[in-house]
Amino acid sequence: MIIAQENGRTIPKEDKIFAINGRAKAMIAEKGQDAVVNATIGALLDDNGKLIVMESVMDAIRMLTPADYAEYAPISGIPAFKEAVKKALFGSHQTDRFVEVCASPGGTGSLRNTISNYSQPGDKIMTSDWFWAGYTTIVGELGRSIATYELFTKDGAFNAESFAETAEKLVDEQGRLVIILNTPAHNPTGYSLTDEDWDKVVESLNRISAKGPVTLLIDAAYIDFAGDEEEYRSFFKKVELLNEHVLPLVAYSASKTLTLYGMRTGALVCMAPTAEIAEEFRRCAEYSSRGSWSNCVRAGQTVLANIYASDELVEKVAREREYFRNMLIARGKAFEAALREEGVENVPFDAGFFTCIEHEDPNAISAALEEQGIFTVPLAKGVRVSVASISEEKCVKTAKAIAKLVK
Ligand SMILES: Cc1ncc(COP(=O)(O)O)c(C=O)c1O
Repeated sequence: MIIAQENGRTIPKEDKIFAINGRAKAMIAEKGQDAVVNATIGALLDDNGKLIVMESVMDAIRMLTPADYAEYAPISGIPAFKEAVKKALFGSHQTDRFVEVCASPGGTGSLRNTISNYSQPGDKIMTSDWFWAGYTTIVGELGRSIATYELFTKDGAFNAESFAETAEKLVDEQGRLVIILNTPAHNPTGYSLTDEDWDKVVESLNRISAKGPVTLLIDAAYIDFAGDEEEYRSFFKKVELLNEHVLPLVAYSASKTLTLYGMRTGALVCMAPTAEIAEEFRRCAEYSSRGSWSNCVRAGQTVLANIYASDELVEKVAREREYFRNMLIARGKAFEAALREEGVENVPFDAGFFTCIEHEDPNAISAALEEQGIFTVPLAKGVRVSVASISEEKCVKTAKAIAKLVK
């Protein structure tokens, strides 16, 4: 007898990505690392398939005391962590918004608390038609579902019209709306909204929010792997132009930005238009945290606090991350160039851990690649390749194999 199913818990027997990754690992064990391309993993690996852990972050970890590991943290995070998050997230951007920070176990926790507080059960949460599968699980667990707009126009530009039309329709239907916007270096396409794209987002949300409040959750999981860290924060200036009926929230995560995936450290940050909305955010975020995971990992918070307490460490993190970011961008560009050489285009790609090839039968393409020892993830609209987890050489090999199959 199975019991949870009685409650509508019809959960797939295995996670698709973990299953493919498992087969890739089995093949590596049998044939060796060089014979296999495992482009399924959402973590930055070196050219030999080993997890990259930033040495500068390890310096901050080595400073931890027993109490930093063992003691409870306050629900919203230790004060030095909250100050560090503001520095890590905003860089040199000075905001005149009402900012509040609430610790979360990675971006996942921030997404969860946004959905639970700013939408109602049964609501549709808007995101683009290419999206991270985690969103479906997070919103589904809370009795909400995903509705999508088309991310790209036919000529590969940001589809501002689809964004605005879909948002307006959903506000009309629901009287409110939560939007998840994963930028820069979007998972799974690698697209980053330009300042011009942002102008259109701001214009449409300022208009549509007259019909009902809009919460714009910027999922900034990959913000430090897009390119120049200052340049890629220029969108914050645009966020400031949103009117008082739009609440911008940012999901900050140390998982990728500091290679701290397992320490479950992140924060939900509000850029509220009024002090009253900021205070309400603080109460809601803390209450939801209390009822979900209580407080977050103190050690991870202290790592961030330690880094930002030392100019030397901040500088070391920046230098080290720049090196890995350049490596990652070089891989992405090599993949794109090799594909183009064969006359095939990937989706509009800027930077980040992933890129995709649009195709009507992604399962068939992924399966054919797997026969050649190349492991990718089939999504609804195409095949996802993690350039974060394979060497430049393997990026080229993968691009050529894909081109042969789709041409
Ligand atoms: C787009 C996106 N958002 C959020 C997350 C959440 O990651 P974490 O909870 O580790 O911060 C991920 C992780 O892969 C992601 O790809």
